[in-house]
Amino acid sequence: MTTTTATAPGKVILFGEHAVVYARPAIAVPVAKVKATATLTDALAGTGCTISAPDICAHIRLSSHQQDPLALAVRLAIEEAGIEAEPDWQITVRSDIPIAGGMGSGAAVSAAMANAVFAHCRFPAHRRPTDETVNRIVYEVEKRHHAHPSGIDNTVVVYAQPVWFVRGQPPQRFDIARPFHLVIADTGVASSTAAVVSDVRRARERDSQVYEEIFDGIGEITVAARQAIASGDVNALGPLMQENQRLLRQINVSSEALERLIAIAEDAGASGAKLSGAGRGGNLICVVESDSVEKVRKALQTGGAVGTVVTQVGS
Ligand code: MEV
Repeated sequence: MTTTTATAPGKVILFGEHAVVYARPAIAVPVAKVKATATLTDALAGTGCTISAPDICAHIRLSSHQQDPLALAVRLAIEEAGIEAEPDWQITVRSDIPIAGGMGSGAAVSAAMANAVFAHCRFPAHRRPTDETVNRIVYEVEKRHHAHPSGIDNTVVVYAQPVWFVRGQPPQRFDIARPFHLVIADTGVASSTAAVVSDVRRARERDSQVYEEIFDGIGEITVAARQAIASGDVNALGPLMQENQRLLRQINVSSEALERLIAIAEDAGASGAKLSGAGRGGNLICVVESDSVEKVRKALQTGGAVGTVVTQVGS
């Protein structure tokens, strides 16, 4: 019996969430310290394909759960691989990315499973499905999670590279002239991206001029952040995060828990902090000078964050 393992990282959006749904740019980076891991093992002949996700107590048969997002990722990868009959496989997927926390756990689970299917098929190099194919599959699954995904989550998780993203355009890499540290902190409050994105959509329909102006403002901050990152002006990033957070508050996607932890991080020396992902819970990110990382991380833990991850952007 052969076993194949594949992984995909978590992600954080540095600037531009929500506005990116409405064609403004966003910047996101992978977070390799947390990941989804899919293990695919050949099963006994005739047993079909079973998918287990112990973290969410899911155990499903591919043939009887066609619409389930876990099954969809595997089914699309099987179709892409040109396999006609259901294969006899046991696929187990685990993840240490917080679920419903804005760190791309759903996209990473789909990407890890699609990567495992393709790796298990042992294609010769010239026939191996590209990252673009995996990205297309994961985007299809993302559409099951929420109706209007911009595509940024699947893109950063699949390519596992920092991306400058504008909806409908090919993702671009960008230069990081000077590495910087982020502390990521989990409020422990689960947040449904689908619900938050659709609330924002409804509010924008009611008040389109105000929302378009806010999205333009977020777009301008994101452009300024790209320039700061490309020129090594790390000191500019904190104030830009503060400004991005101020606009996210105005579209009503922050929360008491996020605001409390953001204030704690800034008091402890972070130069700026903001929510990351859909908001109303989930994770926040803080840009922190390297000598303040431990102080900020401890303050967040003491202040009630249920988990923290420190990551360096750039190398
Ligand atoms: C979710 O991680 C990011 C949002 O901008 C939604 C999306 O881009 O699809 C809130």
